[in-house]
Amino acid sequence: MSKEVIAIEGGHLLNGTVRISGAKNATVALIPSIVLAEEPVEISGVPEISDVDALADLLRELNCEVSYSQGVLKVNPANIQNTPLVSEAVEKLRASYYFMGALLGRYKDVTIKMPGGCPLGERPIDLHLKGFEALGATIDWDEEKNIYHLYADELIGTQIYLDFASVGATINIMLTAVRAKGRTIIENAAKEPEIIDVANLLNKMGARIRGVGTDTIVIDGVDHMYGTIHEVIPDRIEAGTFLIIAAAVGNKMLIQNIISQHLDALLSKLREFGVAFEIIGDSIVVYGKLQEPRAMRVTTQVYPGFATDLQQPLTSLLTCGYGRSKITETIYEERFNHCAELVKMGADIIVDWEDASCVIHGPTQLHGARVKATDLRCGAALIIAGLMAEGVTEIENVHHIDRGYDNIDQKLNAMGARITRYLVDD
Ligand code: EPU
Repeated sequence: MSKEVIAIEGGHLLNGTVRISGAKNATVALIPSIVLAEEPVEISGVPEISDVDALADLLRELNCEVSYSQGVLKVNPANIQNTPLVSEAVEKLRASYYFMGALLGRYKDVTIKMPGGCPLGERPIDLHLKGFEALGATIDWDEEKNIYHLYADELIGTQIYLDFASVGATINIMLTAVRAKGRTIIENAAKEPEIIDVANLLNKMGARIRGVGTDTIVIDGVDHMYGTIHEVIPDRIEAGTFLIIAAAVGNKMLIQNIISQHLDALLSKLREFGVAFEIIGDSIVVYGKLQEPRAMRVTTQVYPGFATDLQQPLTSLLTCGYGRSKITETIYEERFNHCAELVKMGADIIVDWEDASCVIHGPTQLHGARVKATDLRCGAALIIAGLMAEGVTEIENVHHIDRGYDNIDQKLNAMGARITRYLVDD
């Protein structure tokens, strides 16, 4: 058996311009939201990633007409059927669980297999389920097949306090509550920009949601939702990944289509690390490679804190910092699988699994090696490390990277990177 690898010849400085695509984590919630509409919905700025293909397949399973070209997704849900979602496509990505909230909202009945997603340790959905139950749903779970059946005679607005400000639970509860009778109040709601984007789409479709972006979201249920057009916000995690790349191996890089406020935490940390950059409208120019970057401490937090999705890419950058850096993870305590891969490339990193942290001693000169992307952002970390390394790095499990980064090889090659893909023997 052969498998594809991404091969990176390291050591080249990057110059030029890159345009950030639409946000993956908004898109994967916007697409399932469409089933709430009774008329066609068009979304532009949709990134070319395999998660979008999987969600489009699920819409087709529900008998929606779907077309996707040049970043524009057109969906006509006029003949939608509430078919059980139990095929393989549902298991390809975790975000397919947004169909749970959306179909429950629209039909008060949904059958769906529990989805997959990146292996980041335990990822329960108890908060989603508690929310659905509070709105009046009964939940049957076939443990053996891992299939959920949720149903209700009536969904009734209520007050829901989230024990943790979960992105997924906030969105999923919103998707059901928009069609519940009366008012739902979500307290301790998550505040990530992707949640605001989803609420904006839902409001354009006729929902009545206020307070997104704060701790308290108020939703007044409606009886019908309509067609609309919407553009996805820029991907702050892809932007952050390119900012880190620019800090690591950039000569002068212009990164376009950024909402810089979404990246405040990363930008502060990059400034602390000694990176020179300038924000110009919706672009950021990053100047030059660092001379003597300083080791630093980073702790992941819910938005607007430092994003967990960027701590893995940041780990690669910190290998060139002088001194002892430390990263502490508070969102996914087991999100450190990238560290063992970076060690294969010569990094000096020790993971303390009990403490959910890792310590990086630097600077170290990374070298090429055969490594594995254990999850999406591990893949991003390895691409960055490959660009920084001497020699050739081969990254296996490229499907993780293709789930979430839109044409990353082409974008980097256009700025002077040397990245190819080929098949190798197992
Ligand atoms: N959690 C629970 N119970 C729940 C839901 C969450 O205990 O019912 C826990 C999780 O296990 C985790 C923490 O709460 O420890 C955070 O989970 P959250 O629900 O906030 O995250 P998510 O919705 O599963 C989204 C992104 C992730 C991103 C996190 C945090 C999508 C599809 N995924 O996940 O993105 O890391 O928010 O910002 O939007 C990625 O892009 O690589 C990625 C994993």
